[in-house]
Amino acid sequence: MDHSKLAKIYDQYYSPKWPVDNNIEALINYLKKWPGGDNIIELGVGTGNVAGKLYLEGYHNITGVDICSEMLDQAKLKFPKIKFIHDNFCNANFKSFDWVIIVGMIFTGISNHDKKLLLEKMYEELPNDSLIFINFRNWNYHPNFRNESLVEREYDNIGTYKIFDYYKWLDYNHCKGKFEYINIQNDEIFEAKYEMWILTEKDLSELVIDTGFKIMTIATPQEIGYSERFNNINIWVLKK
Ligand SMILES: C[S@@+](CC[C@H](N)C(=O)[O-])C[C@H]1O[C@@H](n2cnc3c(N)ncnc32)[C@H](O)[C@@H]1O
Repeated sequence: MDHSKLAKIYDQYYSPKWPVDNNIEALINYLKKWPGGDNIIELGVGTGNVAGKLYLEGYHNITGVDICSEMLDQAKLKFPKIKFIHDNFCNANFKSFDWVIIVGMIFTGISNHDKKLLLEKMYEELPNDSLIFINFRNWNYHPNFRNESLVEREYDNIGTYKIFDYYKWLDYNHCKGKFEYINIQNDEIFEAKYEMWILTEKDLSELVIDTGFKIMTIATPQEIGYSERFNNINIWVLKK
């Protein structure tokens, strides 16, 4: 999704009370139970809410990568000491990291071919015993996509913004759409386009295992206490 126009109000929407955020705190408490974290990379770090919380918990060796400079500008304001890289995370070099964190719709937003390439790159480059945490939206495939036309739905208002979502399924696993944010105070409108390629839990698990990784655990949002309102799965994957 293109976050460039959303960046300045992203935190008001998704984490209005940050740094107090029970959802992210639960995620961090869960992550802390795992060994390592000596050198962490977060892919799609956004405004730094997860990386920043990890930093505050003492994980000081942390790098955030994001393709959107406007999101990184917000992250840098909050965390001048964290290292941020402005790039597509598919180009990241994983050689020195022992944890990779991928949370917040990100894995859904790259094509399934790119997911495979990224997993292969990580497998090739990560040191042994590294862990990858993937938060992933677990949707079922959409076999009837051909019969469906453009879908329009209204989201809950957030602050002064009314949000509409327009999307269309192009294939059983591929959907394209845009969010429209309308500021009801001044009628200003901006758009954020998105594209998603879904994988079921079973197919993602198979892809991960075929790449050579070992699945350490698959946890539900309830088990972690962290959720993005959708039917998520969270997997920890180990490079043997
Ligand atoms: C929904 S935000 C999540 C931010 C953060 N992970 C969190 O959970 O708070 C998604 C971020 O991923 C970034 N992103 C999406 N695809 C990317 C890619 N291929 N390379 C780098 N950043 C990407 C977007 O620019 C955006 O800032």
